[in-house]
Amino acid sequence: MVQILKSYVGLGFGDEGKGNQVDGGVAFAKSFDEGKRTVVVRFQGGPNAGHTIYSYGLDGKLIEFITHAAPSGLIGNVDIAVGPSVAFDTEKFINELKGAGELFRYNGRVMISERAGILFDYHRKLDVWREMSGKKIGTTKSGIGPLYEDNERRTTRITFYDYISNRFHDKLKEVLKLKKLELSAAGILEEGIDKYCEKLIAIHDPIRKELAPFVERLEYRLREYLMNGDNIIIEGSQGTGLDVDMGSISDVTSSHLLAPYAFASLGLPRNAFKIYGVEKVYVTRVGEGVLPTLATDGFGDIVVKNAGEFGATTRRKRRVGYPDWVFTKRSAMLNDCDGIILTRVDVVQDLELKVCCSYDINGEIVEEVPLDLSTVKPIYKDKKFKWHLWDGPSDLSNPIDVDNQLKDKRKEYVEGGLEGLPLGLQNYIKEHDNYVGCPIIGASIGPSRGETVFKRNV
Ligand code: IMP
Repeated sequence: MVQILKSYVGLGFGDEGKGNQVDGGVAFAKSFDEGKRTVVVRFQGGPNAGHTIYSYGLDGKLIEFITHAAPSGLIGNVDIAVGPSVAFDTEKFINELKGAGELFRYNGRVMISERAGILFDYHRKLDVWREMSGKKIGTTKSGIGPLYEDNERRTTRITFYDYISNRFHDKLKEVLKLKKLELSAAGILEEGIDKYCEKLIAIHDPIRKELAPFVERLEYRLREYLMNGDNIIIEGSQGTGLDVDMGSISDVTSSHLLAPYAFASLGLPRNAFKIYGVEKVYVTRVGEGVLPTLATDGFGDIVVKNAGEFGATTRRKRRVGYPDWVFTKRSAMLNDCDGIILTRVDVVQDLELKVCCSYDINGEIVEEVPLDLSTVKPIYKDKKFKWHLWDGPSDLSNPIDVDNQLKDKRKEYVEGGLEGLPLGLQNYIKEHDNYVGCPIIGASIGPSRGETVFKRNV
């Protein structure tokens, strides 16, 4: 009997390709066909995330699907769960659920923690207002910061339990009153509390009804999955560099992104799980905040063109940098990773890769990531890395129209395992393993399901 218990988290600043790996994990779990259930759980963040997955629709054609509020298990047509620490955007969630219902005839079980904090229009508006009037973070404007503040303030948290209960209308008004000062300053209450409250109720009453059957004491349900031998895949969002405590404060998101937090908030035992850190072979960042290895020599432009490096949520162009192993090493340590999956190694084929292995901080050479990244000057290894995977199409920004020759080549690599990859890439992996102290167990060579090459024995 095989039981798949995995957690995927981002080792960079988000957008490492976690959704695709979760989707692959789901396909793998389903392949055993032992009558087991599989559930994909989101444990933090909200619609600031955008998980892009390329998968095959009912007609057999490859399609792009982006989830923001729903766990990406939606697309794999398995059970999905929303954890207590998620910033839960019910409006987006219901749209994604309905979209999947039409596209895939989604029929999985949906579980929503009674504790999840609900994200409202005023959170989004406050987010926009603060970005315009104060110090900019370059947020996704999805209301994440204001929602988590409400959770921490306690009295202003509207839980999913409140949301679906009869007392929702009263609770909403009570919360608007508590937040009146700031909401008024931001111009959100121009029509008065009563009118604004009515507007929100009109939007949310139909959604509440539809979502009510999904409420769960999630920690108990997940424990049942665990004890039954069912598969559980925990899906992280954003990346370690954006963690509210351990990221590059203050240019961070507002939630706890690290894998150990998933176990604390979901009531699951860490030791039962494998934790995989997902790392893009180059680094990217959107929003404000320093990217220590930012490429200023044209490397970034090639990568953006090859891979379409634009945010899945905001469509902003991502800044691109060279591999930063100092950063990765710390991220792997903080997440307690069992293995690393390196993504997008096809994007940089034939390009010369330099690798940062230490930082110069005011003349001191260190291999530690400081709180203030603006003090860091990257020091690169003398040796540069390069590999060649295939001749022919190099424009990877449109994964949907891929010619058959390229598909076959990718398949060949997948079947050959990591050990069959070009020597230049194997060399990169070996040195990365030595430096980071956590082994690379997979490398993605294409954006679609089944295009990750794994170590033979994994
Ligand atoms: P917020 O999470 O929308 O408040 O944004 C805070 C910071 O995190 C900004 O720099 C965003 O660009 C960044 N961010 C939030 N979510 C993601 C993501 O899913 N991928 C990459 N960056 C993100």
